[in-house]
Amino acid sequence: MFKTILVWVFGALLLLQAIQITIPEPEAVDPKEEIKAPQEIMTMLRTSCYDCHSYETRLPWYGNVAPISWEVRSHIKNGRAWLNFQTWERYDEEKKQKLYKGIAKTINFSMPIPMYLSLHEEAKLTREQREEIKKWAESNIKEEY
Ligand code: HEC
Repeated sequence: MFKTILVWVFGALLLLQAIQITIPEPEAVDPKEEIKAPQEIMTMLRTSCYDCHSYETRLPWYGNVAPISWEVRSHIKNGRAWLNFQTWERYDEEKKQKLYKGIAKTINFSMPIPMYLSLHEEAKLTREQREEIKKWAESNIKEEY
């Protein structure tokens, strides 16, 4: 009985592998289009945000195993669509301002995504680091927007 269930579960998991979210191929980017920030901010963005907010995604092995991969890949797809630090200079000032505000707002709580952090020790940010990112984002907010 137990064996039969196992076989079915395994078979179902195999079938799920046929359904996969494809992440669009990275576009060619000019290094000049990347966001410019002080070195220590860039380092934090690269280690904690770039997996979803750039084309430099390090896809983990479970990023290929459905159904977990659906979650992982949709984060990458949506994360890039909302904000891609590598194509920053393609945004107009209004969009940049929205994003700076978004960063200042989300950095204390929802970004990086908590679920992601539970699997990525290296991307964890201390309270001080979050505060630094927040200050940097706020320093870029212009009053007229
Ligand atoms: C695991 C993937 C992932 C990581 C890592 C991640 N994000 Fe996001 N981010 C997303 C997704 C997905 C969205 C789209 C909105 C949503 O689903 O909440 C998003 C949206 C955003 C937005 C726009 C939301 C708004 O309300 O303005 C900002 C700003 C943002 N992220 C900043 C960051 C910063 C800064 C980091 C690093 C410190 C980071 N994110 C790390 C996945 C990620």
